[in-house]
Amino acid sequence: MNHEYDAVIVGAGGAGLYAALEASKKANTAVLSKLYPVRSHTGAAQGGISAALGNVEEDKPEWHAFDTIKGGDYLVDQKAAMTLAEEAVQAVYDLENRGLPFSRTEEGLIDQRRFGGHTRNFGEGPVRRACYAADRTGHMILQTLYQQCIKNEVAFFDEFQVLDVLVEGNRCAGLVAAELATGEIHVFRAKAVLFATGGFGRMYKITSNAYANTGDGPALAARRGIPLEDMEFFQFHPTGIKGMGILISEAVRGEGGILRNRDGERFMERYAPTLLDLAPRDMISRAILTEIRDGKGIRGDRKIDDYVHLDATGLGKVVLESKLPDISGFVRTYLGIDPTVEPIPVLPTAHYAMGGIPTDIQGRVIVDDKGTVCEGLYAAGECACVSVHGANRLGTNSLLDLVVFGRRAGVHICEFVDGVELPAIDKSAADSARGWIARLLEGKEGPHGGQIREEMQTIMMADVGIYRNAEGIERAVSRLRELRERYASVRVQDTGRSFNTDLLEIIELGNLLDLSLITAESALARRESRGAHSREDFPERDDENWLKHTLAYLEKDRVRIGSKPVDTSLWEPKPRVY
Ligand code: FUM
Repeated sequence: MNHEYDAVIVGAGGAGLYAALEASKKANTAVLSKLYPVRSHTGAAQGGISAALGNVEEDKPEWHAFDTIKGGDYLVDQKAAMTLAEEAVQAVYDLENRGLPFSRTEEGLIDQRRFGGHTRNFGEGPVRRACYAADRTGHMILQTLYQQCIKNEVAFFDEFQVLDVLVEGNRCAGLVAAELATGEIHVFRAKAVLFATGGFGRMYKITSNAYANTGDGPALAARRGIPLEDMEFFQFHPTGIKGMGILISEAVRGEGGILRNRDGERFMERYAPTLLDLAPRDMISRAILTEIRDGKGIRGDRKIDDYVHLDATGLGKVVLESKLPDISGFVRTYLGIDPTVEPIPVLPTAHYAMGGIPTDIQGRVIVDDKGTVCEGLYAAGECACVSVHGANRLGTNSLLDLVVFGRRAGVHICEFVDGVELPAIDKSAADSARGWIARLLEGKEGPHGGQIREEMQTIMMADVGIYRNAEGIERAVSRLRELRERYASVRVQDTGRSFNTDLLEIIELGNLLDLSLITAESALARRESRGAHSREDFPERDDENWLKHTLAYLEKDRVRIGSKPVDTSLWEPKPRVY
């Protein structure tokens, strides 16, 4: 089936919905989502959205921008970070005006809590900057934006899986997708396409990410020759439920929770004397691993599945029930623990991709190191790299990124589609996607996709995780290459057409494999330690050689690494001390 729209947006999380909301003011807009929209992963973001409202103590957008840049270990494009911080304030009030039920102070203002790396006056001490709706902030953003999109008559194509993006020269003309209910292939011809497909944490074995987070947008862009930026930087959130990876929000520490080792020691005092348990996530995740390696995990056996405790007992029942109700529920349900009286066993969990599809601050996709724009192609949210997170994102800046840059992309799309014709597309536009699906469904015997996924996730966890070194990454690259070869002969076992989840998972696996290889190759290339990329063989940050973004080009079986400069026009890079 063929469709024509001014704008087609892939992904119905915060970035996709905000872009759709803005675009639909003037443009005929469709949103494709592989899920029912309000099940998008934005709904899993718990603790808050940052904005220097100054409602409970003095704060300034300039401090917020500085914290974002320092938190990102100076790999952040600084003017973009300033845009993020300056537009944050209005973005939060816009959400409030659209109906988002924020938690309130006694005076009725939007309440704010502490979060990692957010400080007053350029690092003097923690500041309350995260606006929140209990521990359901992302969920509330999603509901609010979805309602507004329905009001604006955005066309929703729920349970559609994107298969290809149509890029000819430097012009995007639409995309190809499969309808999951019927297996039918649809071609969408569009003046503008926006990817807002979220992250790809599913390439790791232990992750806070939903099953749907398989990097569909970045993988398709990479196959069309678009480089991916800073892919070596993958954030591990310090507090996932041990063994499961389910997120225990940083808000627990924002409200006073404390990390403790087997001696009951508040070990962050040794690693970050000023910010303690609210240091940036990369530092805390490394600190937890160091404690475990030193035999100070709770079991003390130095094994990688040892853990530490997140002690929330001091918060009291009222705070836990009113400000962290979901977290309290998760802990009871999954661990059988009452967090008011017992500490929570936690370990770092793969959480967020700092890298992704390169864009400018209007969300336009950039295809090289010279700033060349792919006309009509946009990206926003976790699948994009603006870059405002650099080498390590601060907590609550992801929801903010979605809202600020989703909105900006939507505004730009409105202007763009006004002045252009619908691009032509070839009759054979869907042939490549059709051929791929036909091959997967042809009924022959082939390697088992589930086994390949399991191996990929184990490799990524072991060799491209929190700590890395050349030997491990090289091993990962060579094993990922083998897995990609095996993947080429994978066939699905269910050859039905309706809701064929076997087929869907194989398509997603192909995307994850490509992104795993790109992540590993980018990690091998960067011979320094910065933010979430911690090389045991190159333990220091090396600004002389590596204060630059990587651009990874997927070329069949190899990845070519290029680079582009970082905008450091506002603050000079300094060592990070917290
Ligand atoms: O800890 C959290 O609530 C996660 C927030 C984030 O990743 O921004």
